Amino acid sequence: MRTDLLARLATHTQQRDQAGLRRRLHTVTRADGMWVERDGRRLLSFCSNDYLGLAQHPVLVDALKRAADTDGVGSGSAHLICGHRSAHAALEEALAEWTGRERALLFSTGYMANLGVMQALLQRDDVCVQDKLNHACLLDGAQLAGAELKRYPHGDIEAASRQLTARPDAGALLATDGVFSMDGDIAPLRELAVLCHHENATLMVDDAHGLGVLGARGEGSVTDAGLSARDVPVLMATLGKALGCSGAFVAGSAELIDGLVQSARTYIYTTAMPPALATATLAAVRLAQSEGWRREKLGTLIARFRAGASQLGLPLMPSPTAIQPLLLGDTAAALTASEALEREGFLVTAIRPPTVPQGKARLRITLSASHEEGDVDRLLDALSRLPTARPV
Ligand SMILES: Cc1ncc(COP(=O)(O)O)c(C=O)c1O
Repeated sequence: MRTDLLARLATHTQQRDQAGLRRRLHTVTRADGMWVERDGRRLLSFCSNDYLGLAQHPVLVDALKRAADTDGVGSGSAHLICGHRSAHAALEEALAEWTGRERALLFSTGYMANLGVMQALLQRDDVCVQDKLNHACLLDGAQLAGAELKRYPHGDIEAASRQLTARPDAGALLATDGVFSMDGDIAPLRELAVLCHHENATLMVDDAHGLGVLGARGEGSVTDAGLSARDVPVLMATLGKALGCSGAFVAGSAELIDGLVQSARTYIYTTAMPPALATATLAAVRLAQSEGWRREKLGTLIARFRAGASQLGLPLMPSPTAIQPLLLGDTAAALTASEALEREGFLVTAIRPPTVPQGKARLRITLSASHEEGDVDRLLDALSRLPTARPV
């Protein structure tokens, strides 16, 4: 008898529920900086990726409104048909200049950018070597491209080297998050660049959580590590995190970008992002570049949180960035802690498997330049009263 697909999916959902892993959607009815209203309650959020506090900045809002007055809402088409507007071109130019690359190409989401790059670069006989903790879309991208996917233990250069040398004749892409999304630590980019140079492999960095946050002008983790476009020929970053907007881009040589325009299906066969959004994002880039105080303030808040959490003996992870997870291990412990924080007026989501490995459930606390020192102190105070927030 044929399998009932809907019944099978329902069984899977039920199993997730029984294991305490059911994902639930909550509607935010109002957002005001780091404050959100959910289920009729006002909560101070420590889980957004709006690291520089730009998502509701009046300059961005104004840019979006004014551009919509002239450009309308939808782009009306894919880039290659008639959807590519001056606003897209101006944003691409600014992103290329910011990241020190010849050119940049916009995608509608980071997920699509990574799928598109992998599918354009990789073929069946190639190998794609990736850090085990890379974001899901990098892993999916390699699999969809049909290349051999090899995953090395987190940050383990020697293991990565062994995986590359095992396939000396294959085309090879080594892909890594610049800043790991669930752990907050930074990839050993210099060592990876040396390895790729030695092995003739292409290095790709997904800097979704580094752009805007790291580097003197927010250029991201690659520039911050002192690496050039030659060291990291494929740079991808998103626009929906520190820049407070939505979308993503790939930056690199003119040859790379031209190749993506020819071959990246997630670029070719989809509607271009709304041009007004591109205009607002350009305003965000300018603010991120010029307002260094946002990065400085974020740095102060990170140091304050880490000092306080370490004094309390909380299970901090070795992260220097705005992502400051507390590793609780047990799924139930992470959920209980998140619920207890919510009762105290804080929104901190519990991150559970399969997003993180089994036994590594955590509270993913993120900081933003929109937080104040008093906010961090109040969060620490609430954390100090959690019985479950203890080292695993
Ligand atoms: C490292 C990383 N890459 C890519 C993405 C996907 O980007 P987007 O949300 O724009 O699809 C995310 C998160 O969303 C991410 O954390």
